[in-house]
Amino acid sequence: MTNEMLSNPSASATNAQNAADQPALALGRGLDVGTANLVSSVQNAHGEIVVKSERNAFLELPSEFTVNKAMLTKLSVPYVNWENRLYVLGDSSFELANLFSKDVRRPMCDGFLSPHEKDAIPMLRFMLERLLGKPSQPGEPVHFCVPAPSIDQENDTIYHEGIVSGLVQKLGFTPHAMNEAHAVVFSELEEQDFTGITVSCGGGMFNVCVAYKSIPALTFSVGRGGDWIDEHVAKVMGVTTARATAIKEGDVDLRHPKSREEEAVVLYYRSLIEYVLANLKQRFEVTHDVPQFTQPVDVVVAGGTSLVGGFTEVFAEELRKVDLSIPINGVRRAEDAFTSVARGCLINAQFSSEG
Ligand SMILES: Nc1ncnc2c1ncn2[C@@H]1O[C@H](COP(=O)(O)OP(=O)(O)OP(=O)(O)O)[C@@H](O)[C@H]1O
Ligand SMILES: [Mg+2]
Repeated sequence: MTNEMLSNPSASATNAQNAADQPALALGRGLDVGTANLVSSVQNAHGEIVVKSERNAFLELPSEFTVNKAMLTKLSVPYVNWENRLYVLGDSSFELANLFSKDVRRPMCDGFLSPHEKDAIPMLRFMLERLLGKPSQPGEPVHFCVPAPSIDQENDTIYHEGIVSGLVQKLGFTPHAMNEAHAVVFSELEEQDFTGITVSCGGGMFNVCVAYKSIPALTFSVGRGGDWIDEHVAKVMGVTTARATAIKEGDVDLRHPKSREEEAVVLYYRSLIEYVLANLKQRFEVTHDVPQFTQPVDVVVAGGTSLVGGFTEVFAEELRKVDLSIPINGVRRAEDAFTSVARGCLINAQFSSEG
């Protein structure tokens, strides 16, 4: 099942399902194509933003299972038949994988389509189809996010953008790509005239955007994110990656680790934040067209990896150690860090429709 919620807090009394069933206005959709999660957003006829999310993962059911497809449907387990094999999609694949001690497979890795996953494209297509449904009118625009090229990995942004774009188009929509961290500028910096620094802290990477009056002056990404923390914690603690993820997503506070495992999580979080900020400083030094900010700017962090306790405080602490040569107002977390990119893509769709 996809997860569905209304992201407008004032609309919390309304039943999400009912609201989602209302006809969508033809203003387009926002779509966050993430390594860990796929998130879509649309404005319904009441002006509420309806957000749906799905883990970007799938599981092939082993052939020894005699699968009763009717039962899967009855239990709302989404599945597809692909080349004579049965695959369970999204959140349900995680639940089943845990139950059967299997690993899920993932279409993306480090922010991009995974070169190691042969079924990445068809599985992503099935999941996008479930998430987006049908266009409210032929060619309804979908503004989706793509990462900036990584400074530490060779990745093919052209291939990734082209494939996702093609999948969205095949579903009957008109695709428009936008930079992931730039989307956060739209969702979180309206009151600052869309000026400031945004960091989308995801599962596969961290994406950074420095924007002046909505124009992205500097964007880049690093190929490290939540997965990188999990892999390293697992290695040094001698636990599985799944266990490391569970510890990290538990009630860790980066300022007050309560166990050796949590200390390891803190170490890798700090190392990752330092790494991103050192690269931001370096980019500021080598890029000549970065605007001269006269007023202090806000730094906004978003994405699942920013949800850990104490993240903004540690980020601010590390930022003070780096001389970025621009005045900083402070560091804050996006209003809803998990949906910030998808909401920003939707806002961009709406601005674009206004011409
Ligand atoms: N409460 C939490 N505390 C710490 N980390 C969390 C929490 N909830 C989710 N995460 C982590 O957030 C990451 C997923 O975040 P997100 O959905 O923003 O990534 P993504 O957009 O799919 O990936 P990317 O942008 O890198 O392609 C995972 O590494 C997950 O473990
Ligand atoms: Mg992301």
